[in-house]
Amino acid sequence: MTLELASAGESHGPALVAIVSGLPAGLVLDREAIDADLRRRQQGYGRSPRQQIETDTVEVLAGLRHGRTLGTPLALVVRNRDHANWTWGMSPWPPEGEPDGKGTKPVTLPRPGHADLAGAQKFGHEDVRDALERASARHTAVHVAAGAVAKALLREIGIEVSGTALDLDEAAIDAARADRDTLGGRVEVRSTGVCPGLGSYARKEDRLDARLAAAVMGIQAVKGVEIGDGFALASLRGSQAHDEIDADRRRRTNHAGGIEAGVSNGEEIVVRAAMKPLPTLMRPLDSVDLATGERAQALVERSDVSALEACAVVAEAAVGWELARAAREKFGGDAVGDFVGAWRAYCERIAWTAR
Ligand SMILES: Cc1cc2nc3c(=O)[nH]c(=O)nc-3n(C[C@H](O)[C@H](O)[C@H](O)COP(=O)(O)O)c2cc1C
Repeated sequence: MTLELASAGESHGPALVAIVSGLPAGLVLDREAIDADLRRRQQGYGRSPRQQIETDTVEVLAGLRHGRTLGTPLALVVRNRDHANWTWGMSPWPPEGEPDGKGTKPVTLPRPGHADLAGAQKFGHEDVRDALERASARHTAVHVAAGAVAKALLREIGIEVSGTALDLDEAAIDAARADRDTLGGRVEVRSTGVCPGLGSYARKEDRLDARLAAAVMGIQAVKGVEIGDGFALASLRGSQAHDEIDADRRRRTNHAGGIEAGVSNGEEIVVRAAMKPLPTLMRPLDSVDLATGERAQALVERSDVSALEACAVVAEAAVGWELARAAREKFGGDAVGDFVGAWRAYCERIAWTAR
């Protein structure tokens, strides 16, 4: 038994969709809690005016009745309100009538740092928009909705997941905006109440640290991930780096960030990620015009200066999703009571209670 997520949707297409399968039946979902996470993803200092156009809310098309999951695939939709300005340019079918609104002219000026050039080359697109629309982080909205569902499941077994932006410097954001430049930064996700034993060392793809790293590295613009003290551990001695075990089987420190040998060890799980500066610059970098082969300046399109706070929300959803998947694998169950019952019995066997 595992959780699976399939998603689709372009940045300015009609909607973003996700199908979540593997949820137990009887899980109570709170529409307001999902929408609150969607709002958090839209906020943060340094965002573009697009966030004022979109007021993301979740629609559920299947798998839920009267607020409780049915144990069948859950279908989630987040509409792109901005699509109203792109109905010709992003029409799924050959557009009718005269070109109107945005996206009517092909994009041929790839941005360094974005999917534009490699995506166009890989898929044979002549209009770079055919690559950038899906590569854009817009579709993280529906992943945040799925993450909110995962967090509801985790709450049943006492796990809370929380993401925050580190290095948030609003003056630096103002200065970058004035210089028509962009910023990145670091985000941190902390998960409390995780029992020992999620993940496994049996196969490398089962390792919880590897899975969390892949989930967070899968977020647009994330270029580095560490678990616990991560890179800093490299310059310590073993005696300084490892977390000594007390008679009650708890740790005195948590340099490992809650995971050893790919398995959660009962301490807080700490994941940090480095986000690179956003690639769309209002003062564009050098590029090539793919239509003429001449040197040119990269595409300038409405864009965030910093999306660090949004990235923290997306990373929280990614970590929540991966922990929920690992918990489903360990505790199974068709009904939420079976899942919680298996977790309780296991915690009793190892005499573990959350701190
Ligand atoms: C929440 C979020 C918002 C983003 N907003 C923008 C943006 O407004 N402009 C931009 O150029 N990149 C933005 N990005 C980053 C790009 O999507 C990303 O750099 C691009 O898809 C290339 O992928 P890569 O950076 O992983 O190589 C955002 C990323 C995240 C996580």
